[in-house]
Order: sequence, then C-alpha cells, then structure tokens
Amino acid sequence: MPVATMPEADVLSRQDPELAGILLGELDRQSTTLQLIAAENFTSPAVLAALGSPLTNKYAEGYPGARHHGGCEIVDVAERLAVDRAKALFGADHANVQSHSGSSAVLAAYAALLRPGDTVLAMGLPFGGHLTHGSPANFSGRWFDFVGYGVEAESGLIDYEQVRTLARARRPKAVVCGSISYPRHIDHALFREIADEVGAYLIADAAHTVGLVAGGAAPNPVPYADIVCATTHKVLRGPRGGMLLCGGELAERVDRAVFPFTQGGAQMNTIAAKAVAFGEAATPAFTAYAHQVTANARVLAAGLEAEGLAVTTGGTDTHLLVADPAPLGVEGRTARGRLAAAGMVLDTCALPHGDIRGLRLGTAALTTQGMGEPEMARVAALFAGVLRGEVDGRTAREEVRELTGRFPPYPD
Ligand SMILES: Cc1ncc(COP(=O)(O)O)c(C=O)c1O
Repeated sequence: MPVATMPEADVLSRQDPELAGILLGELDRQSTTLQLIAAENFTSPAVLAALGSPLTNKYAEGYPGARHHGGCEIVDVAERLAVDRAKALFGADHANVQSHSGSSAVLAAYAALLRPGDTVLAMGLPFGGHLTHGSPANFSGRWFDFVGYGVEAESGLIDYEQVRTLARARRPKAVVCGSISYPRHIDHALFREIADEVGAYLIADAAHTVGLVAGGAAPNPVPYADIVCATTHKVLRGPRGGMLLCGGELAERVDRAVFPFTQGGAQMNTIAAKAVAFGEAATPAFTAYAHQVTANARVLAAGLEAEGLAVTTGGTDTHLLVADPAPLGVEGRTARGRLAAAGMVLDTCALPHGDIRGLRLGTAALTTQGMGEPEMARVAALFAGVLRGEVDGRTAREEVRELTGRFPPYPD
C-alpha cells in the first residue's frame, strides 16, 4: 500500500493538514529524486506499520520478564522475537535490540568494555571513522584517548601494518573496526589477531555493512569481534535504531550498558519494527537484494571511473563508494549542490588525503526501488554530464523523474 493512501495518512490529513502536507511533500521528494545517500533506504510498509503502531504508547524499562513497568507481557513477546531473529540472522549468542541509534549502540559498547581515559584504536575521522570513533566534538573524543589509523596513500586500503604498529606502541584497551565510507570488505580475522596480540577487545562497528552481512554479501564480524554494534536502518532496511551482538559471556555487561547505564525506556514500536525487518532480512528475497546492491555499486563505481572521476580504492565491495570529482574540474561541495539541483541526492565526505571533499554514494535505496545495472550505468552517465555542465539541470531533472517514475519506492 502506498504510504500516501495509508489510513493513518487520512487521519492525519483530517486532523493536521499542515503536518500531513509536510509528510506528503517528503514522500514526493523521496519518490521523485534519486536517493544516493549511502546510509539511507526505503523501509517496507510492514516496518512503517509497526513503527506507527500503539506499541509506541508502552513504557518498558528493563528487559523481557524483568521490567520496571506493569503491562509488558505483550511487548515482551515482541522484544523476544526481535532478539531471537537477530541472533539467528547473524549467528550471535546474544543480541540487544534496544539502542535508540547507531551512536547509542557504540556508546553502550564502550560503556560495557572501557573506563573513561582508556586508549582506543580506531579509524581516524579523515579516513572514514565515525564521530563516535574519537571526534573531539563527540563523547568518544572527550572521554577516551583515541588513536587513529588510516589507509595506504596509494591504494586507499586500510593500512593493517600501521594498525599493528600503533597497537604495539599504544597498547589500546579496544580496537574498533568499521567506517562510514570505507568501500572494501574489512579483514576481521586480521583485526582480531592484532587485538589479541596486545590484549585488546575488538569492537566491530558494522553500522553500514550489517545489512549486507544479513544478506550474505559481506563478511560477518560476529565470529571475530567481542561486540558488534550496528544500525538497523541503512542497507538492513529496518527502522532508525541500533543493536548490539556479542557472545554469552558479555551479554549481561552489554545489557546493563544499554539499560540502565545509557538509556531509559525501550521504544517498543521501534523494537517491533526491528523484528519485522529482521524477518524480512532472513528471506531469500533479501539475500538477492543484498547481492544486487553490491552488483549495482560496482557498476556505478566503474561508470563514474570511466567518466573520469577518481574512485577511492578503484571500486567497491559494498553498497557504497567514494569518488573525487576534482578531475572533472569540480570540488565536492559544489558537485553536491549541482547534483542536488538535478535531483540526485548524496553526501560529501572526507577524502583520505588532502583537504578537499569527495562524494559518498550508495545503492541501497535505488536497489530497493528495483533498479539494476542498466539504471546504474545511466545514473553514472547523467551524474558526469551534470558535473561537466554538458547536461543542464532541467534536462537532468526530467531524466531523473522518468527513472524514478518507472521505479516508485512505494508502488500501488
Ligand atoms: C560506522 C557508523 N557508526 C555509527 C553510526 C551512527 O548511527 P546513528 O546515526 O544512528 O547514530 C553511523 C551512522 O552513519 C555509522 O556509519
């Protein structure tokens, strides 16, 4: 059912037409432009239904069977279902599905394993580390002593020798692997080996890749990391939120790090929506989806490279890619503005070397819409045409409308 015609949308239009208009405007924006932001996707109507359900009314501090509030017997079943499905999907002994976001999940992982002032080795922010990996503007940079590793200048690949050297020199309490923009698979076994050599915990922040892991299109960090933290949105296509996976021996510490240490009442509507998304992610259709996402990203990367953009690492193994538009004579921020005017929505991001910004793109949303390799080749050509100034904004906008019209995110 298209969102615009859902009964809830009718209720909202009658009661609060102003806000209903905003929702429909955003639906129109999402449906008529190309969502190339690597962290975004289109959730299913079933996920949206769980999110908008009366479970939002329920207060449920604590965990199933041990709540601080009465009347939790039904929502307990929803949370147990979400936990069981997450454990089965990722092969984990324990899952905590209460984190309100990816950042809250990382905070809980640190709270479970570290003390303020501890040294942590993570990817440096200029190379693709997340804010929670030591930014001075974030709790992580304020409360912990972060040491950043980077990528090799030539290849753009993680410099594992540098990771090992820094680990030996700085003896971190934890090593973090995971990134907002690294397009290649991560060698979890090597990270585990380095962490073991210095007696450190290994935390995998799989926010970006966990959906690919669910679909068998990226390696699973669960067998290697002490704690895996992740988002449930992005490629995984669930509601906005976080989760943690770990072995049985850390289960209690992780649970206590989420509630009561860093969060209060669980959002039961979101947890129900996570259960729906995990159910969807366990289907053969999702496996096919995850592989199509990576196939599409490879075609998009190759297309952009053929058009003259500099694609970091020369391609991608995942849903995302980073490209420097400088060879076309445009800087990242200007490029993002031009592309937005043409109906192509994406982010800028730090490039591994130098101060200029590049572009980060992903294929999760377009693939959910049903687009495949031919459409990716077309997007790459249009993209470069706009950046070179060969295709004017209006013509590009029309082509985008034609494309999105054939692949509506919420078909009738
Ligand atoms: C690697 C990584 N960690 C953590 C997060 C934080 O997720 P959230 O925005 O839900 O807090 C993100 C989000 O982009 C991410 O990419």
